[in-house]
Amino acid sequence: MEQSLKNLEQEALKAIKNCATVEALREVELEYFGRKDGKLTNVMRSLKDLPAADKPKMGTLANTVKIALEKALAAKFQTFENAKLEKELSNDFFDTTIPGKARYVGHIHPVTQVQEEVERIFSQMGFAVMDGPEIESEYYNFEGLNIPADHPARDMQDTFFIQEKNDTKHGRMVLRTHTSPVQIRTMEKYGAPLRIIVPGRVFRYEATDASHDSTFNQVEGLLIDKNISLSHLKGVMAEFLTRLFGKPVKVRFRPGYFPFVEPGVELDFSCLLCGGKGCRVCKQSGWVEFMGAGMVHENVLKAGGIDSKKYQGWAFGFGLTRLVMMRYGIDDIRLLTGGELRFLKQF
Ligand code: PHE
Repeated sequence: MEQSLKNLEQEALKAIKNCATVEALREVELEYFGRKDGKLTNVMRSLKDLPAADKPKMGTLANTVKIALEKALAAKFQTFENAKLEKELSNDFFDTTIPGKARYVGHIHPVTQVQEEVERIFSQMGFAVMDGPEIESEYYNFEGLNIPADHPARDMQDTFFIQEKNDTKHGRMVLRTHTSPVQIRTMEKYGAPLRIIVPGRVFRYEATDASHDSTFNQVEGLLIDKNISLSHLKGVMAEFLTRLFGKPVKVRFRPGYFPFVEPGVELDFSCLLCGGKGCRVCKQSGWVEFMGAGMVHENVLKAGGIDSKKYQGWAFGFGLTRLVMMRYGIDDIRLLTGGELRFLKQF
């Protein structure tokens, strides 16, 4: 038996070595290791019939043969594997200069981009960035801002009421028509002094066209402290616009009316396109209308719980959406809320 095992090993090693294909190698594997009738399998199986004295020696030998054959098989399989890989590598020409397939990953909306810039500039000037609810009470949106129910200023903001009755002080609920309600909310919460901006979405009942939409974005500003005047506002806004546009910008006031400020002003900035000489963009005036502002009305300070004998301040509100349109030369406001990717991908 010892001799026949050795012969079997030699014979098998030779067969393995001579295999030219994986298929042939698999055949050889089956011939020796096949469960049913493999040559080595049969030998292993017959061990139990040997006389007890021969068992250990023959068992060890059979095992050595088995391990040697398994090793030889694995090594041969590996040579086929390697050959296959090498062939693949040499056959497939891989052009490393082909541009990759870029995946579209999305980006920040142009309105948000400009909003973040506005926040950064005002933060640098010591303003905190505040937030308020988009569904507001009539009280915060109107009464608290010195716009009583019968005030004609309400006609301009005939708007989206979403609930018929609320409590008597706060009235009905409304989609806020401006960011000004956050003035009162912040005064109530933090008191004076204050230095805040409030970027946010506002809603109006509008017949939509290229320059009007039912949803747009504003930025509110509020500064309350001692000995504050409109000259501080002028300085802050000139600085803000200069930093935003990256070149010197001048501002001017014109008289304006808003119930929640007294006196009220409109602020214009010098036209960036013509430098003030007059062009199509500024309608030959050299100035671009930018925002409403004014000294916070005594009644508004009172609503916010601030002592108007000790503190005063100014507030402003500008259209962030309009600023974005000016900055990128967008001529239709509806594009900004339309969700059209061909438009948005440009920014
Ligand atoms: N809330 C005003 C508007 O929406 C703008 C404004 C804010 C005016 C603060 C004066 C002071 O038109």
